[in-house]
Amino acid sequence: MTLRFLTAGDSHGSCLVGIIESLPAGVPISLRDIRRDLRRRRTSPGRSSRQKLEEDRVEILSGLWKGRTTGAPVAIQIPNAGRKVAGKGGGGLSTVARPGHADLAGCLKYGLSEVPPVSERASARSTAMRVAIGSIAKAVLDRVSIEVVSHVVSIGDVEARPDTSSVERLKRATARSAVRCADAASGREMLRAIESASREGHSLGGSVEVLAVGVPPGLGSHVSWDRKLDARLAGALMSVQSVKAVEIGAGLETSRMRGVDAQDAIVIEDGMITRPTNRAGGIEGGISNGENVVVRVYAKPIPTARRCLPTIDLETGETRESPFVRADVCVVPAVGVIAEAVVAWELARALLEKFGGDHMEEIETRVAEFIASIARRNRP
Ligand SMILES: Cc1cc2nc3c(=O)[nH]c(=O)nc-3n(C[C@H](O)[C@H](O)[C@H](O)COP(=O)(O)O)c2cc1C
Repeated sequence: MTLRFLTAGDSHGSCLVGIIESLPAGVPISLRDIRRDLRRRRTSPGRSSRQKLEEDRVEILSGLWKGRTTGAPVAIQIPNAGRKVAGKGGGGLSTVARPGHADLAGCLKYGLSEVPPVSERASARSTAMRVAIGSIAKAVLDRVSIEVVSHVVSIGDVEARPDTSSVERLKRATARSAVRCADAASGREMLRAIESASREGHSLGGSVEVLAVGVPPGLGSHVSWDRKLDARLAGALMSVQSVKAVEIGAGLETSRMRGVDAQDAIVIEDGMITRPTNRAGGIEGGISNGENVVVRVYAKPIPTARRCLPTIDLETGETRESPFVRADVCVVPAVGVIAEAVVAWELARALLEKFGGDHMEEIETRVAEFIASIARRNRP
């Protein structure tokens, strides 16, 4: 059975719920790690006052025995503190469709003239559960020494030029930055840009990079379109609210290069296959090739801002101004944490498809054997 999850819950309902099915037994799950990821999603400059309210008190209701998965479905719950403030009714704005949100399209599709049944579910509050689920996926990956990290590349028109030659250095520099940017000077500029957008009533978009280190070759497959790892990563990342584009490796840059310059040569060094460059972002033909998987994610500026756009009242058809409710100014650092979780989930799913087993130890043994068999194969 393929690893899968289902989530339920509204932005201002009582809680978010998630169920993960087909996790192998024996994976150690740390609530501390899940809470740490949830905190990273919630806290960064540019988030709204709601983030101070939410504590994301995650609870695991089933599927664990003495801190390890049992093979049974894992049920997760995150209560919403925000329900006490905004209430489920949408604060009296319930028939005005906000441009840039699911409001209009969702109401047309489901035959509704009130927005909350759409907006409550479409809200990015649901990304808290995706982060919790991704954190559990990271625990699977950790058993086979795969690590997923992220950093902010741009906010508004401020672009970072971080040193990505050492993942450890990148991680330390990202952790030191309030906006999760590994280039300290650009990070300070990003912070100023967020403060000025907040004063002027704008919102800012940007981009993040996710790196997965230690990914073995062979995840995903070229044989069918829906098994390709790049397609699966892009689809999953595009499902995150506000994400408008996904780039694998040096995707955009290679589109402007000559073919000979856009690929990565294959060489053997000390009996090991090595790639002097990684423009492919660790994926060729829809299959991981043993290099770091590198994905960039581009998020639009969030729609709600103090400067309002014309829209309509869905009940009366009258022209209105889009309502301003409490909103984030910049969610790019949060998108980095969410994208990390999404990439971890897709990699864990592809890992279990290739090496699957009922207990994590079986999977660990199979991964080690596969890697050893590749090393043997390249011996002169
Ligand atoms: C972490 C996060 C927080 C967000 N917060 C807000 C917000 O406070 N106000 C807002 O208008 N949009 C916010 N958004 C963006 C909307 O959820 C998103 O633009 C909307 O659901 C429409 O989806 P789409 O942009 O993918 O088409 C947020 C997105 C993310 C990822």
